[in-house]
Formats: sequence, C-alpha cells, structure tokens
Amino acid sequence: MARVALDHLSVRFGQVAAVDDISIAFEQGEFVVLLGPSGCGKTTTLRCIAGLEQPTSGKILFDQDEVSHLPPRARQVAMVFQFVSLYPHLNVRDNIAFPLRARGENKAEITRKIAWMNKIFDLGEILGRRPGTLPPGARQKAALARAVVREPRVLLLDEPLSAIDEQFREEMRWELRHLQKELGMTTIHVTHDQREAMSLADRVVLMRNGKIVQAGPPAELFNDPVDEFAAHFIGSPSVNLIEATFTESGVALGDEQVPIAVPEQHLAAIRKSGLQHGKVGIRPHSLTPASSGEFGAVPVSRPISYAIGRERFLDFELSGQIWRGVLPSGSGEDVPSQMHLDPSKIFYFTPEGVRLPVA
Ligand SMILES: Nc1ncnc2c1ncn2[C@@H]1O[C@H](COP(=O)(O)OP(=O)(O)OP(=O)(O)O)[C@@H](O)[C@H]1O
Ligand SMILES: [Mg+2]
Repeated sequence: MARVALDHLSVRFGQVAAVDDISIAFEQGEFVVLLGPSGCGKTTTLRCIAGLEQPTSGKILFDQDEVSHLPPRARQVAMVFQFVSLYPHLNVRDNIAFPLRARGENKAEITRKIAWMNKIFDLGEILGRRPGTLPPGARQKAALARAVVREPRVLLLDEPLSAIDEQFREEMRWELRHLQKELGMTTIHVTHDQREAMSLADRVVLMRNGKIVQAGPPAELFNDPVDEFAAHFIGSPSVNLIEATFTESGVALGDEQVPIAVPEQHLAAIRKSGLQHGKVGIRPHSLTPASSGEFGAVPVSRPISYAIGRERFLDFELSGQIWRGVLPSGSGEDVPSQMHLDPSKIFYFTPEGVRLPVA
C-alpha cells in the first residue's frame, strides 16, 4: 500500500482547468473521499492517479516514486467505476481470476485468493454466475473483488455505489468501510453525495472548480467550514444562510434586522474584519424553540412542520427565505412562534462567502 502525493497537479482541457494546482497527500491505509459538485474535477484527479489522464503540470508520487508519466499498468492501481466493467462472458470467479492469470499466478495461488475474496465479500453462489444475471449490487461487489484481489498499491473508486438503489447502497457502504479498514488499503473514493462522503471517509476533500476548498475529517468540515460553499455543501437539511448587518454592538439578520445574540469573541472577529455587511449561517439542528419575546430569537412565520420517524422538522420564512429547523423529539404538533439560534454555532461570512475566523 502506498502513500499518494499530488504536487501542484493541474490538468487542462483547452480553456478548462479541470484540475487546478492541487497539492495534497493521502496517507497509507487512509480512506479519502473526493467530494464536490458535478464538473469540479474529481474524476479527472482520479484518472490522473490511475495514469489514464496526463497531468498538464505537477507531479504524482507513490511513496518515494514519481509515477506522473508511467503507464497505468506500471502503477499497480485498481479502479472501479460507476458502471461495472466485468467481462460479460465470464462468470464472477473467472472475472476475479482474470487479472491474476494475466500476470501469471499459479493455480493454487489463484484458488487461495478467490477463497479469500469469497470470505471478505461473501460472494457465495454468485461466483458461478455471469455478471448479466446479477443485480447491480452483486455486480458491483464482484467488481470490487476483482479490483481488490490484485492487492493494488492504491484503490480508486469513482462513484461505485451511485448506480445501486438506495437500500442496497447503505449495505454496500457499510461493507466497503469495513473492508477498507480490514485490508488497510489506501483508498480514494469519488462521490458527489455528501452523506456517502461523511459516512465513509477518514478525510473528506471538498473540491470546487478544480481546486480543493477544504480537506479534513468529516466532523471538521461540518463544524468548521472554511466558507459558505463548504457550509452549504455538507449537512442535511442544509445550513440556513442569510444576509446580515454587522455593527459595533451586534448582528442583525435579513430585511427585518432581527438582532441575534453574539458571543464577545465573535463580535471581536467581526469588528476586526471592518465589515458592515456579510452573511450568517446556522445549521438546522442549532435552532431550538424559544419562548416568546426572548432576545436573539427569530420569528417563525408561515411554518410547515413535518415528521420523519422521530425527527420533526420545521420550515419557516425569514426575509423571504425558507429556513429549516429541527424540533426536539416529542415536541408534538405545536409550532413555536420563535426559534433560538445557538450563539456558539453561528458562522459569519464576508459578502463573498469567506468565513470569518473566530478565536
Ligand atoms: N476529456 C475531456 N475533454 C474535455 N473536457 C473534459 C474532459 N474530461 C473532463 N473535462 C472537463 O473537466 C471538468 C472536470 O470534469 P470531471 O469529469 O473531472 O468532473 P467530476 O467532478 O468528476 O464531475 P461529475 O460529478 O459530473 O462526474 C469539467 O468541466 C469537464 O467538462
Ligand atoms: Mg466524475
């Protein structure tokens, strides 16, 4: 298993900078998820690591070895895509054996490795079946087994679960997570699904326009987003964002200029920025029902509340925007007239969306 380092990696397609000067290292055995909206450069980054795409500039290292211009074969990576590319005329056993035979491994060794894959992936009867006869989840499992059996230096996964239906996807996610830890494989997984990223990754690398916006453990991205984009991309229901007025003594939200409670060190940071306007972000779970007239609470107008299982959500309007809140379990059908914002959980952004650092 290798440590993978990208050093000022760029890939251009004509005018498009698909990957724009990325530098980051993925540690040996780490499960990294590249996350970001469509077109942000996730697949291109992965294809560069695999050797399927040439960098326009910059370097790729596996441990101490520079591989930037090695052909894919010489890199010993395995890649699994959204749509499985198993050989349709071979059964699953022969599909898994194929890369081993191709590199001349003996029969006993191949039998041992297939048994190993069978144990890990619990393939059972699907070993004897052709891919076309299998449901998508089973096919994807077989594709993963074929990738893993080669014991690659790096495992690259490009949206491998997105063609699988929701229910089975959760199961696959769970299996993938355990498998990756068991085998200790350096794994780089691409998705645009934040939930998938948050549930799988040791570290999430959030990308936008070919650049890295933020890289860190899932909790860090959730609790400490570097900008408005990161705050918005992660979390469900998504963060509430609203225009705010900053004054010497406080912060007021929206056209209604609703004053909110701001801790002193946050006020200091806002003053230091010299900004009079900006934006405020608060996650739905950081809103709680307030008693009427409480300072720092926002009015709840035109509410809709609905439950999903034990969790009750509250959508309401503030300054022409829909706000999302979560009510405590057991709070019944009653809708509070105001919601309180947890002052320690508020994010402050410049008008351009950069987060103001608070001590
Ligand atoms: N072979 C190519 N030729 C020209 N432009 C390309 C090529 N491959 C990718 N691009 C462009 O590079 C940018 C990044 O594409 P990429 O496929 O890496 O994004 P992505 O993050 O994987 O998106 P998605 O979530 O849709 O798969 C896009 O603007 C895309 O149109
Ligand atoms: Mg892609």
